[in-house]
Amino acid sequence: MPSVKLYFTALLTAVRAGEFVLPRAVIPPPVAANASIYTDCANAAWPPSGVGKELVPQAPSEELKEMLKEIDPANIEAYIKKLVSFGTRHTLSIQNSTTRGIGAARDWIYSEFSKFADKSEGRMTASIQSYTQGVASRIPFPVKISNVLATIKGSTSPDRVYVISGHYDSRVTDVLDYTSDAPGANDDASGTALVMELARILATRQPASTIILAAVSGEEQNLYGSTFLAQTLKNASTNVEAMLNNDIVGSSTGDRGQRDPFTVRVFAQGPPPSESAATAARRLQIGGENDSPARNLARLSAEVAANDATGMGIAIVYRLDRFLRGGDHTPFLQAGYPAVRYTEPNEDFAHQHQDVRTENGTVYGDLIEFVDVEYTARVARVNLATLWSLSQAPGMPRNVTIDTSVLDNDTRLRWRVSEEAEGYEVVWRATTAPLWTNVLEVGKVGEVRVPLSKDNVIFGVRAVGKNGYRSPAVFPFPPPS
Ligand SMILES: *[C@@H]1O[C@H](CO)[C@@H](O)[C@H](O)[C@H]1NC(C)=O
Ligand SMILES: *[C@@H]1O[C@H](CO)[C@@H](O)[C@H](O)[C@H]1NC(C)=O
Ligand SMILES: *[C@@H]1O[C@H](CO)[C@@H](O)[C@H](O)[C@H]1NC(C)=O
Ligand SMILES: *[C@@H]1O[C@H](CO)[C@@H](O)[C@H](O)[C@H]1NC(C)=O
Ligand SMILES: *[C@@H]1O[C@H](CO)[C@@H](O)[C@H](O)[C@H]1NC(C)=O
Ligand SMILES: *[C@@H]1O[C@H](CO)[C@@H](O)[C@H](O)[C@H]1NC(C)=O
Ligand SMILES: [Zn+2]
Repeated sequence: MPSVKLYFTALLTAVRAGEFVLPRAVIPPPVAANASIYTDCANAAWPPSGVGKELVPQAPSEELKEMLKEIDPANIEAYIKKLVSFGTRHTLSIQNSTTRGIGAARDWIYSEFSKFADKSEGRMTASIQSYTQGVASRIPFPVKISNVLATIKGSTSPDRVYVISGHYDSRVTDVLDYTSDAPGANDDASGTALVMELARILATRQPASTIILAAVSGEEQNLYGSTFLAQTLKNASTNVEAMLNNDIVGSSTGDRGQRDPFTVRVFAQGPPPSESAATAARRLQIGGENDSPARNLARLSAEVAANDATGMGIAIVYRLDRFLRGGDHTPFLQAGYPAVRYTEPNEDFAHQHQDVRTENGTVYGDLIEFVDVEYTARVARVNLATLWSLSQAPGMPRNVTIDTSVLDNDTRLRWRVSEEAEGYEVVWRATTAPLWTNVLEVGKVGEVRVPLSKDNVIFGVRAVGKNGYRSPAVFPFPPPS
């Protein structure tokens, strides 16, 4: 196994060679005792040996593997084709036709969700959540914005909620052109189809906690649908422990023809925008910039979903989104919820936000012929593995603190013990490492003293369920004074 240093060297080599290859080595090996990048550390015993062990990614259960096999690219293709058939799904397009416009798309998604719900023995309900958006910069007249939701109620922890979304609205070159055909096959019928396929499969299962599968609207006009959904959940004090946004997950071929069909990017923001000024200042002071709930959600996704069962690698990108572009995870982050965006590895801008046309021999437009449904099916597996693992695990540990009152070389961590958890694990990594590398099982306790200095590594605490599923890790802050 390569060292952490070699892992980065391989990445640099790939970039120099001019290939746009994303780093896919998902779980780097534990820091080697003699890794030269650490020779500046004065402690000769670096890293301290004999504590914990190498972190091994959790394997999917048999039940999860069965569910992953049920994801069918043919269904995803049929959903995308049907969505494209509505001509345009622009947010401002007509809502009173059964064959054209966003209203027709809304009603069709609702009818599909209702059919899935019929097979759920009452666990899943389909609903349409609407409000009227008044005039704004990309909204020239008041318009009804509708999110279509399939909610499957958790069997043992119904009050803990996970949200997954795709947006079903579409656009062409002019964001205000609501009459021209806007197929939006990749952006974002692909994400919508992925959510629908997961709804179909989850309807026949009994997740421990609640999952909301959302087809949202108004994304292209200014994230209106997802903002309304996030605000509704926040106003009801809903405990949303993760939100997964899928936007542009339909192709792995970039505009230079480069292909990377077994990688999906997951964008994860650093310091949460919802944090108070005091917490943000403390986060900076203690080096917690890289340990937002969103980034620890992305790490969990890589750990449970980059494997043979999904056939995919995950390239975590440590930023909110692509440069100056946004998505439906953003309103959830603003509402204080951990949220990430999945998107394809290489975008082709000839097939995004474009009038359908042929110009100088090049075909422009977001057409289904440029979508690879096998790729979308693999991204769906990544999402299902992540969503199922989260929903079957205990919730994230609460009130995780790190004691700074004793000046020694040990680390004292505390948290609130939850009935849901079978036990807890302390995880850590070098401050320069992207992913957790080491783990110490500590049992069902609410505090532990680890013979490692908090100054030299980053610690996290995660809950483990009876079924072996783990929550995302929580970064400890010093207790509130
Ligand atoms: C670290 O030490 C081991 C055992 O002495 C050796 O096999 C390995 O090559 C060393 N690694 C590096 C990166 O120096
Ligand atoms: C459908 O809605 C449009 C506005 O989007 C309106 O102009 C038209 O009259 C409506 N048609 C019917 C049959 O209600
Ligand atoms: C959420 O609550 C705020 C403050 O009361 C209110 O302004 C807003 O309209 C509410 N949003 C939703 C979607 O319920
Ligand atoms: C097509 O070619 C014309 C003439 O060379 C040029 O002005 C135009 O920008 C080209 N269009 C695109 C989309 O490249
Ligand atoms: C635990 O954390 C919550 C916020 O998540 C806070 O309201 C509560 O006071 C904390 N409890 C203790 C004992 O610190
Ligand atoms: C911390 O470790 C250093 C180096 O190993 C040692 O010199 C020092 O005495 C330790 N401090 C305490 C308080 O144990
Ligand atoms: Zn989009």
